[in-house]
Amino acid sequence: MQDTLEHAGEIVPVPAAAIEGTSCTGGQYDAMYARSMDDPDAFWLEQAERLDWFKKPTKISGWSFDPVEIKWFEDGELNICHNALDRHVANGRGDQTALIFEPDSPEDPVRKFTYAEILENVIRMANTLKKMGVQRGDRVTVYMPMVPEGAFAMLACARIGAVHSVVFGGFSPDAIANRIEDCQSDYVICADEGLRGSKRVPLKANVDAALEKISVKAVLVIRHTGGDVAMTEGRDHWFHEYSEGVSTECPCEVMNAEDPLFILYTSGSTGKPKGVVHTTGGYSVWTETTFRYTFDYREGEVYWCTADIGWVTGHSYIVYGPLQAGGTALMFEGVPNYPAHDRFWQVVDKHKVNIFYTAPTAIRALMREGNDHVTKHDLSSLRVLGTVGEPINPEAWRWYHELVGHGEAPIVDTWWQTETGGHMITTLPGAHPMKPGSAGRPFFGIAPQLVDNDGTVLADESTGGAAEGNLCIIRSWPGQARTVYGDHERFIQTYFSTYRGKYFTGDGCRRDEDGYYWITGRVDDVINVSGHRMGTAEVESALVLHEKVAEAAVVGYPHDIKGQGIYCYVTLNAGVDADDALTKELRAWVRTEIGPIATPDHLHFTPGLPKTRSGKIMRRILRKIAENDYGSLGDTSTLADPSLVDGLIEGRLNR
Ligand code: WT7
Repeated sequence: MQDTLEHAGEIVPVPAAAIEGTSCTGGQYDAMYARSMDDPDAFWLEQAERLDWFKKPTKISGWSFDPVEIKWFEDGELNICHNALDRHVANGRGDQTALIFEPDSPEDPVRKFTYAEILENVIRMANTLKKMGVQRGDRVTVYMPMVPEGAFAMLACARIGAVHSVVFGGFSPDAIANRIEDCQSDYVICADEGLRGSKRVPLKANVDAALEKISVKAVLVIRHTGGDVAMTEGRDHWFHEYSEGVSTECPCEVMNAEDPLFILYTSGSTGKPKGVVHTTGGYSVWTETTFRYTFDYREGEVYWCTADIGWVTGHSYIVYGPLQAGGTALMFEGVPNYPAHDRFWQVVDKHKVNIFYTAPTAIRALMREGNDHVTKHDLSSLRVLGTVGEPINPEAWRWYHELVGHGEAPIVDTWWQTETGGHMITTLPGAHPMKPGSAGRPFFGIAPQLVDNDGTVLADESTGGAAEGNLCIIRSWPGQARTVYGDHERFIQTYFSTYRGKYFTGDGCRRDEDGYYWITGRVDDVINVSGHRMGTAEVESALVLHEKVAEAAVVGYPHDIKGQGIYCYVTLNAGVDADDALTKELRAWVRTEIGPIATPDHLHFTPGLPKTRSGKIMRRILRKIAENDYGSLGDTSTLADPSLVDGLIEGRLNR
């Protein structure tokens, strides 16, 4: 981005106010990080002690990356729902507000829940699930809008030992069906409809469409908008009716630390989305600890993460992290630009939010709308700001820092992944000076390493020094995913085979002399669109399913707001002509096949794709052309038809 150089090397010191009362100063970070490396078992046992265990673990770490087997706290027993709710109620936190729900429309009433009230709601839902037939170990698909009942559904599953698989409410019926099928889920929890910027999202209708392709035993429907939905007799149950008369008691299942807690599907560079599996003990400890330290959470503070519970950020930092830590979390149903572009700031002001966590794409979009939207609200309550999902360009960082954080609130730029369960690289508010654009330092227990394409080590925490390469993590951490549901071999192949014995993140990264990590973006065929991960292969498969499409190749290209946009090269079947109508049709097609987040930004029709003589598509060339970078196309002489390239460039320049 153009502003990178201007601010390169800029260091923003830790504000004095962030040091006062912090749970972790720079010195403490150094000592704690060193201990987490030198004596990980003692370190993680100490962190684990903040949680209640039905049986305390005696074995802390037990893992190997070659062969791949990952276990933490393996003889411990606990339940994350107990740690998120029951224990707080038992410890006198019952009357504290745990969740503030801000609805889509500012005109609608705010709903607040104390810890005791959430517990009551979760027990009711847990017993309703049991009544429906859900048993420990069963997979339950959750397809919910951003309403408290979405969080209750997750906690209710955890309570009874069922494994939730949350599917983002923006995904299509096909995507739901694929995910239900992949994890053989017999139960679905959904709402009648969702609301986003006053538009209704037909959640139940989407589930119905999905269930034309695949069947389940039961669907639990939560009434939210009151919109009309079809109910299938014997299969579909209204929660408010079916839950009548269920018991108000429901003890937490005693779970082993390594029992699965949830599955969350995420895109990779090849094939269908993978069902990433997180287990109970390590994930509990990881989300509680990272939440507490990364945001330097302080008693009584209001914390707001704008993510959706359909993504891992929502799992770890709307539901499990804040509740386990006994915090007060705000949940927002709507969108940043409804009813106007000041909605975020209006909500911050209204609820006196202290900690605010969002995505760079949202910051860039709001920044474009002008400063008045921000300055007309009182944002003085904000103490810590966070970003997640993609690199933040320094210009957006500055704006966020000055306008939103009144030049004082520290910003934590948290690098992590669905597979990591929680934060991995980030500065800590009271500990580290910030460098706009850099995620910062490794969290406790995290050992990053940069390697070149051959796997030669370029830099890590023990060598120190500056280098740029492929980002691996060379030790396990408690929040690490344990497997891919139903396909452990794919887990090993995807994450541990590129560089044997190391977890490969798929990201490129630079480490500077101060030990700060700068994520440079994915080095595989995964693109990051508005902080959402998208496999180019998924979009390609969707395109070629269309009867008029012969072949497709999809790449990312820089996009001002989204970070990366989706650029599709498409060849059509013989006799089919490209026109605007077909462009529209294909865009709509991908939306229905995958969901709105996968909508192509550019469709580029071409008579052929550049391939090697052995038939491999030269993606490098396609990426460069999409990026408007023609000077460094590299060697094109190995192409089967080098003349194609000129046509592609011409096609690119003409748009
Ligand atoms: C990919 C993971 C982590 C929750 C949301 C996304 C990119 C994530 C950052 C950051 C630069 C980031 C990486 C990563 N990413 N956070 N702070 N700076 N890049 O989770 O869908 O699993 O995507 O998002 O490329 O690999 P995800």
